[in-house]
Amino acid sequence: MTGTTAVRAALFQTPERDRLEHRTVVVEVDAAGLIAQVHDAHTAAAADAIANAATVVSVPDGSVLLPGLVDLHVHAPQWPQLGTGLDLPLEQWLFEHTFPLEARYADAAFATSVWDSLVPTLLAHGTTTAVYYATVHEAATTALGEACVRHGQRAFVGRVAMDHPEGTPEWYRDVSASAAVDASQRSIESITNLFGNAGLVRPIITPRFIPACSDALLAGLGELAAATGELVQTHCSESDWEHAYVLDRFGVTDSVRLAQFGLARDHSVLAHCGHVTAADLGVLSSIGAGVAHCPLSNSYFGDAVFPTRKALDGGVRVGLGTDIAGGSGVGLLGQAAMAVTVSRMLEDGVDAAVARAKRGVAGSRIDAVEAFWLATCGGADVLGIAVGLIEPGRQFDAIVVDTARSGSGLRYWPEVDSAERLFEKIVRLAGAADITDVWVAGRKVTG
Ligand code: GUN
Ligand code: FE
Repeated sequence: MTGTTAVRAALFQTPERDRLEHRTVVVEVDAAGLIAQVHDAHTAAAADAIANAATVVSVPDGSVLLPGLVDLHVHAPQWPQLGTGLDLPLEQWLFEHTFPLEARYADAAFATSVWDSLVPTLLAHGTTTAVYYATVHEAATTALGEACVRHGQRAFVGRVAMDHPEGTPEWYRDVSASAAVDASQRSIESITNLFGNAGLVRPIITPRFIPACSDALLAGLGELAAATGELVQTHCSESDWEHAYVLDRFGVTDSVRLAQFGLARDHSVLAHCGHVTAADLGVLSSIGAGVAHCPLSNSYFGDAVFPTRKALDGGVRVGLGTDIAGGSGVGLLGQAAMAVTVSRMLEDGVDAAVARAKRGVAGSRIDAVEAFWLATCGGADVLGIAVGLIEPGRQFDAIVVDTARSGSGLRYWPEVDSAERLFEKIVRLAGAADITDVWVAGRKVTG
């Protein structure tokens, strides 16, 4: 079989929320980047796969293969302000830091210089799929799609729509609802038709959030989603202020109003959702909308911890997001570790002055296996794409982690570590320096 690649490696992955799979395999990847077969390494079929492959990759002992990471929530233009400004509340941070920075992407050369820094950096951290907010500017948005194609990252790229006279500054907004819908429609075409795209980069309809959008814009984008079938992303019940704003403006919650506008729908990506009610979770689960859980960002802007376990148990699709730059971390493994941490704080509570029995929310914790599932399968399920697991029929989006790099806190001790412990170490301790190889759709994009 010409064009196939055989990858021999120790594989770790989480096919279910509570199941870690680890085995030594030979993965057959076809010329299009699709996984054709996964064999146990010591079988005759594995030997045949290696003998017949055009290219053989042998992941060395001490390194492990994992599915690539799916970051459901990245504000690409906020890359230059990563790590700054987080002492302000969300609504002030937007007007004082974020909108002024995003307005600068009218300059396409500046935009491209940022995209060419961001995209390869996320790949180096193992993010094989990213879901991006660009800016209101069509040219900068198209250029972000071009950068993803150029660097080989699977992505959803959305032109940000925002026209509300109070929720946006007059120097950074769409001129009208109809102009915004038209620009978003043109952007869908530009992203779909990117030169060399081949389906790697897809458009996503992106009303910023209800406070930044007029009713006419929200309705128009809901109609655009129904007409085109493209996915939708927005922010939902992010903070006390944002949740209360929507209740005040519409008399119903964010989830309900977004569903009424046709924006929360099957495979929509709703960022944060820390303030969703039990009824909201029922709405999201019944329509198939997903949550981008951004644990670090929520610690700054969210005023609450998203109830991950409750949402998953209620049948809601959930994955993870960095929310660059509301969250100040780059890699999604860091967010997976953080998701475990905040779930523990939700379970235990945080104020020792409150009696232990009343301090936390029992049954909230998730563990490292579940967090990695969120970062891979969970994200893939939110988007409805065939990534997140190394199995036949899915795309070969994968990373290699070195577990013996000098200078790293991540270290495998064969005398001490079970496979389960090694996996836990990877989730909590692996950083970009430990990620030696990254493939997207079978193509090596770093390393
Ligand atoms: N809500 C509306 N815009 C934004 C943004 O850029 N970041 C975050 N975290 N929340 C938002
Ligand atoms: Fe965000």
